Amino acid sequence: MNTPDHYAVFGHPINHSKSPRIHRLFAEQTQQNISYDAQDIPPESFKNAIKSFFSSGGKGLNCTVPLKELAWQQADSLSERAQLSKAVNTLALQGNGSILGDNTDGLGLVADLTINHSITLSNSRILILGAGGASRGIIAPLMEKLPKELVIANRTVDKAITLGIEFSQVGDITGCSYEETKNKQFDLIINATSASLTGDLPPLADNLLAPNGCCYDLAYGNLPTAFVKWGLSHGAEKSLDGLGMLVEQAAEAFYIWRGIRPETRKIIDLLNSER
Ligand code: ATR
Repeated sequence: MNTPDHYAVFGHPINHSKSPRIHRLFAEQTQQNISYDAQDIPPESFKNAIKSFFSSGGKGLNCTVPLKELAWQQADSLSERAQLSKAVNTLALQGNGSILGDNTDGLGLVADLTINHSITLSNSRILILGAGGASRGIIAPLMEKLPKELVIANRTVDKAITLGIEFSQVGDITGCSYEETKNKQFDLIINATSASLTGDLPPLADNLLAPNGCCYDLAYGNLPTAFVKWGLSHGAEKSLDGLGMLVEQAAEAFYIWRGIRPETRKIIDLLNSER
């Protein structure tokens, strides 16, 4: 057998990453001869680590927290969606030896919402909680689905307003405080804050979710996150965490690297059954 093409995920910390498992399952399913491992790379070592990865024959990388913005800076060229999001989760070696940066997070979210969970985005009222890097990656792909309204609420209001202005080329986006969302209702609320990781929640009004509305937390864990629990206790028709998005963004990265799109449903089911 030929030597496998080498791929990896860089992050810091990285020990709980599910990406190696997911990509190995993809490779098995699509019969691609690849190896994929996880490497703990602190931000200060990132630039050298990418160089040595690709110069020693590596074909592609995933980058996760806290390296996505650095990966955006290091790529030789950027896809349009990566350019806009200022964050890169996928680096791919090109035929001419240059490194392309892409961002598949937003596509992964939209695929999980619309295909796996049959949630309609067009003409819906969507609220994003948080205005950091995670929010940046999902705004444009959500806007492509033509929601009725996209609002970004953030603790630091200026960041939400600035984000709305920055993304005005993809449509009308309102940035505001949590206080300002109080008398409004949304069909879909997406938690893109890092608050979930510490079990915290932004201050959300009790009637923020419209009847039959859905909640989606970009974070995931073996147990329901604080935001998934909030959705369940506030009448959400569906209150989901980001495991499906994780698999879908990985499938999109795999497609960029290998030109073949893995089937995700069974892999999501498998990972869900292991929680
Ligand atoms: P990421 O790349 O994961 O988005 P980030 O850029 O540090 O990380 O952004 C974290 C987001 O979570 C921010 O929107 C942050 O709000 P501020 O901009 O006001 O800091 C939000 N966040 C983190 N902890 C929070 C908490 N306890 N309550 C509300 N928002 C929180």
